[in-house]
Amino acid sequence: MAAVGRPRRSCLAVPGSSVKMLGKAQGLPADQVFLDLEDAVAPLAKSDARKNIVAALNEGDWTGKTRVVRVNDLTTPWTYRDVIDVVEGAGANLDCVMLPKVQDAVQVQWLDLTLTQLEKTLGLQVGRIGIEAQIENAAGLVNVDAIAAASPRVETIVFGPADFMASINMRSLMVGGLIPDYPGDPYHYILMRLLMAARMHDKQAIDGPFLQIRDVDAFREAAKRSAALGFDGKWVLHPGQIEAANEVYSPAQADYDHAELILDAYEHYTSAAGGKLGAVMLGDEMIDEASRKMALVIAAKGRAAGMTRTSTFTPPG
Ligand code: GLV
Ligand code: MG
Repeated sequence: MAAVGRPRRSCLAVPGSSVKMLGKAQGLPADQVFLDLEDAVAPLAKSDARKNIVAALNEGDWTGKTRVVRVNDLTTPWTYRDVIDVVEGAGANLDCVMLPKVQDAVQVQWLDLTLTQLEKTLGLQVGRIGIEAQIENAAGLVNVDAIAAASPRVETIVFGPADFMASINMRSLMVGGLIPDYPGDPYHYILMRLLMAARMHDKQAIDGPFLQIRDVDAFREAAKRSAALGFDGKWVLHPGQIEAANEVYSPAQADYDHAELILDAYEHYTSAAGGKLGAVMLGDEMIDEASRKMALVIAAKGRAAGMTRTSTFTPPG
């Protein structure tokens, strides 16, 4: 099933230790920001980063952006303090908590229960804060169905390629890019596995970072591969990657127009006035109920991206 929720074509990583970047990110055209307490923040800077993030969420202008904080993973001593400080300090100005290196459903349930406790104590609406589950190791991938189903708060399944590559001993340092020794896409299985779990449970599927931040063409190629499979968006690490992600994860104008046309034509032809037909020709193409479902996916993505159609369907008369 197509998961359409908050737009997340571009998910911008912002280190919580950098007050400057927390400020700058607010003016960038990313669909989502995630303010990081995990791997972009040194252990000795975690405590200050929590304070910076609370201040940035409460005092910044994040209009139009989904606001996410990535906490540390549950094998560290920091996770509970991350969640408590951020939600107590800025729970009303936070949309999701991202849990990295998720290994099983219990970890998601821990976060769900902790958020519920905090929301009840703080008088916040219970269940409003969502969860992003980042899959970064073999255990997480093997358990991804249970992870996606672990809580209604889960909104996304996110790929973490760098940690994942380390977890499975992949012999490359080229995160997110193709590997010359492998005659295919080394991430294909992982991406498809994540996508199946996400779609089965009606969650969004988000691709991870591409580290060669100055090579926007290479970023675009990597993004196109997961977009072609059906992913909803990708992390961006640099302002230069944002426009490319917004473009790649939106339908092309011609595809969007075509999808809207199929929906209108199908509605007309299946109606009494249109002849109660199930399978009909639209130009040179035969369309039926499955075409409508495919068109709905593209149309929904286009509408979520704020696209305007440039053609209309005129019933033959
Ligand atoms: C992101 O967290 C990654 O490990 O790629
Ligand atoms: Mg990681």
